[in-house]
Amino acid sequence: MKIAIVLGTRPEIIKMAPIIDKLQNESISFTLIHTGQHYDYEMSDQFFFELELPSPDYNIGVGSCSHGKMTGKMITGIEKTLKKEDPNLVLVQGDTNATLAGALAASKMHIAVGHVEAGLRSFDKSMPEEINRVITDMCSTIHYAPTEEAALNLIFEGLNPKNIYITGNTVVDACIRNLKIAKKKKKNIAKKLNSGKIITITLHRAENVDNKNRLYDIVKALKELDEFNIVFPIHPRTRKNLKKFGLYSELKKCEHVHILKPLGYLDFLLLLSESFIVLTDSGGVQEEAITLNVPCLTLRYNTERIETVDAGGNILVGTRKDKIIKYVRLIANNKKFREKMKNATNPYGDGKASERIIESIINASKDGKLKISP
Ligand code: UD1
Ligand code: UDP
Repeated sequence: MKIAIVLGTRPEIIKMAPIIDKLQNESISFTLIHTGQHYDYEMSDQFFFELELPSPDYNIGVGSCSHGKMTGKMITGIEKTLKKEDPNLVLVQGDTNATLAGALAASKMHIAVGHVEAGLRSFDKSMPEEINRVITDMCSTIHYAPTEEAALNLIFEGLNPKNIYITGNTVVDACIRNLKIAKKKKKNIAKKLNSGKIITITLHRAENVDNKNRLYDIVKALKELDEFNIVFPIHPRTRKNLKKFGLYSELKKCEHVHILKPLGYLDFLLLLSESFIVLTDSGGVQEEAITLNVPCLTLRYNTERIETVDAGGNILVGTRKDKIIKYVRLIANNKKFREKMKNATNPYGDGKASERIIESIINASKDGKLKISP
């Protein structure tokens, strides 16, 4: 059996890493196709290095461009490599343009597709990620749903329950494994900031950072929360827009705001684990926060990670300044409220998602499920 893994962005590298690790342990042959959607050292190579992943066999090098152009270039490049490699299964992860391109290219070539993190739904089609998720699930042969809710979404959309596996999310595998490694590091990013309570913030969602009013309101909230140490590792999209809207220099002037480059995974996990609260619009960070018992305030109006809200570890606060500040101070001043958020049960499993996925791939291969007739 031969597998092709398609990935292109930071979260896909992090969440595919435990699967790649297991494939290596099981001596299952695989080829790694990087679309090149993320290309800065801080957004791509540093994760290959830190997580000890093999270098990609192919890099399609699409770079940054419009959605249509990017997806089209990826499909063309992936199709070419799949023709050459002739795998039995293509694995994609999550909801990015790389995920969609991998699923579309493979399914049209009658190659089985396994979707890791299948079935998530925000039910908000204005998000490019929602379109990518829905279409990827429709093209996929096997769906690795992280939770029961995700599996039910797929069943409600008419997909065959026999092809849906509830596995947990590989982010928990990555988080547990790498936090242990990170804690052995001599330099600890969080300890460097030693005094005061740390609030970590990550921001990159197009609907937030491409919108001047929303970004302005979030920055105003950060400026006002000066009783905290705010750590902001900035995604390149966000850095660019903060500068474009004249907000970067505003933040730079605040002594309590620490602006950083995007961090490596070990540093980021350490920082998150030592944070008092995390503010984020990231999908992966919502999952990691509940895994590490860190209260999470999500700067969005909906989430496909609804399990974290239902469990009580995450609150959707949106992007208005007053509401962000109100909830940060509520968590800070009300110990009972804070403890309840911290003690929310993790809905994403026990850290063995990658094991379950590999087992299911081996069984699917034995049962002939990976054979797609044209
Ligand atoms: C993409 C995904 C998003 C995911 C995120 C993870 C889609 C539609 N979006 O969003 O779902 O949550 O990755 O981080 O697939 N840039 C750089 N260097 C890089 C990468 C990007 O400077 O290495 C800048 C470019 O100006 C680019 C912008 O960031 O135009 C946006 O990059 P893009 O990959 O289009 O979307 P993300 O916001 O990163
Ligand atoms: N992350 C990181 N360094 C950072 C910020 C985030 O390693 O400076 C990791 C984080 O731990 C999570 C992943 O990046 O695993 C989330 O990626 P991102 O927020 O870019 O995308 P999303 O999850 O929203 O698709």
